[in-house]
Amino acid sequence: MLYIIDSAHIEQIKNCIEYYPVDGVTTNPTIISKENSDFKSLIKEIRHVIGPDKMLHVQTTAKNADDIIKEAIALMEFVGGDFYIKIPITPEGLKATMKLSKMGIKVTMTAIFTQQQALIAAKAGASFVAPYINRLDNIVSDGVHVVEEIVKMFRIYDIKCKVLAASFKTIEQVHKIAMVGSDAITMNPELFKQLTYHPLTLYAIDDFMKDWESVYGDSTITDLLGDNDRR
Ligand code: E4P
Repeated sequence: MLYIIDSAHIEQIKNCIEYYPVDGVTTNPTIISKENSDFKSLIKEIRHVIGPDKMLHVQTTAKNADDIIKEAIALMEFVGGDFYIKIPITPEGLKATMKLSKMGIKVTMTAIFTQQQALIAAKAGASFVAPYINRLDNIVSDGVHVVEEIVKMFRIYDIKCKVLAASFKTIEQVHKIAMVGSDAITMNPELFKQLTYHPLTLYAIDDFMKDWESVYGDSTITDLLGDNDRR
């Protein structure tokens, strides 16, 4: 399972990279616009913060295939590292994806709402497809079911394209998506915190410390080992 940060907020990305085993960053025009800053500096800074080996997915704003291809090449050269161009699934997007994948430029086909959109995106050469879970749930559809069937179809046809589930609002959604075998999940930084928080964990740690302090007071294990006993 790949964990990806769905944010362009530099401090939050830094925090996630430091505390969680994350594999990259996804952005879209809404996420970028929220930062309200210079686009080039922001993208460069994200790459600098995550390093060249983690994935960075940046979405095109172009509408026709030729312009999408132009943007993809320019972005890939500018961003560097492990780069994916995100392209919404439209006929022009598919046309661009077929050409880009032949050129060796990795595509994440995004704004996926149905199983058949995912299948044809994969056939066009996308490396990832990004179905939108919460947006499906919001229209009384079933994001988990859609992902489950995409995963199943990719297995039936031995398709190498990976599923990058996106648009999460709850940990329940994240858990259910993990249970149906999505290859990757992209979450906002707040969900990373919620995913690891549990009050019983905090109570347990509190109890361990009370018991320890009842015998050893303020001394830590490092204090008790002392310099001479370190191996
Ligand atoms: C990421 O690739 C998607 O663009 C994003 O997760 C959409 O999330 P939203 O539905 O919360 O806007």
